[in-house]
Amino acid sequence: SGGDTLDFEIRRNPQPVSDAERTALLANPGFGRIFTDHMVTIRYAEGKGWYDARVEARGPIPMDPAAAVLHYAQEIFEGLKAYQTDDGVTMFRPEANAARFTASAQRMAMPALPEDLFLGSLHQLIEIDRSWIPQGEGASLYLRPFQFATEVFLGVRPATEYLYCAIASPVGSYFTGGVKPVSVWASQEYTRAAPGGTGAAKCGGNYAASLIAQGEAAAHGCDQALFLDAVERTYVDELSGMNVFFVYDDGTLVTPPLTGAILPGITRDSVMTLARRAGHTVQERPVSLTEWQEGAVSGRIREAFACGTAAVITPIGVVKSPDGEFTVADGGSGEVTMRLRQELVDIQRGRAADDFGWVHRV
Ligand code: COI
Repeated sequence: SGGDTLDFEIRRNPQPVSDAERTALLANPGFGRIFTDHMVTIRYAEGKGWYDARVEARGPIPMDPAAAVLHYAQEIFEGLKAYQTDDGVTMFRPEANAARFTASAQRMAMPALPEDLFLGSLHQLIEIDRSWIPQGEGASLYLRPFQFATEVFLGVRPATEYLYCAIASPVGSYFTGGVKPVSVWASQEYTRAAPGGTGAAKCGGNYAASLIAQGEAAAHGCDQALFLDAVERTYVDELSGMNVFFVYDDGTLVTPPLTGAILPGITRDSVMTLARRAGHTVQERPVSLTEWQEGAVSGRIREAFACGTAAVITPIGVVKSPDGEFTVADGGSGEVTMRLRQELVDIQRGRAADDFGWVHRV
């Protein structure tokens, strides 16, 4: 299909939220609970390719009850942020999200949206909903592109029809406490993804699979579930929606390797790049929960943090498991963690030089 050259048909929302109401909503957005006036949709049909690209009022998507996604969960998504900077509106590394969206589509046996069209759809959405980008430090416009099977068919095979959609949500920090250290619960019973499974794809099913462990975490007073590898139940994989890093006493940063069972985070990649530039040794290697516990107790592991688009970089203060609990150093926010966070946020907000070409002007 000539998908990447599609023109968007723009139909403005006839009843946008009023200026006064929007200002009130943007004052305290929270995470993922308020949405802008518009959405982008693009359809796909086998034999026809991508067609009918639209910018329209955000609203319900009519769907047949036999739409394949409702039965077999053929769905993928992305998450990235747009910022209001002093020199205009920017997105952070959207080309990386486009590439990962393509990889996720391949894993879930879906047609890949041309990456130019993915980026173009986000430009369109930001353009029309520019007034929804919150201004404050820590606030941004979270973009959520997603794609799912709409074909009306109950046989188990890749669908022949899909809908791509992008919505936008003004957000503050993901955790209600802001950048305070979080606590994690290492589930012994549940795993997130096995070798050969869908762990490296950003598909809704991975997050559905994490929810029961997230419930366990909450029941133990923890903010996030921590998943161990599915084979040996020994090595740290990731949290339910964030990658994990450890900071050793010699300044080395360690993060679990991309084995196919963890999500290749764009923040994870950015952190490795910034840490290497700052002179840290960075290793991608397995870290067992035992190594973490012993390291935290001996002082060999000084800091640990979670990272993701939504959470940015958030220190991990306490680790609990059925075997007990330990704190990482004094349970506070580590120095290396907070320095990397500041560097990353300064680049994202246009306050520091963009040496790696990560900032994309809209
Ligand atoms: C992210 O955008 O960082 C995600 O992984 C999705 C979710 C945790 C909000």
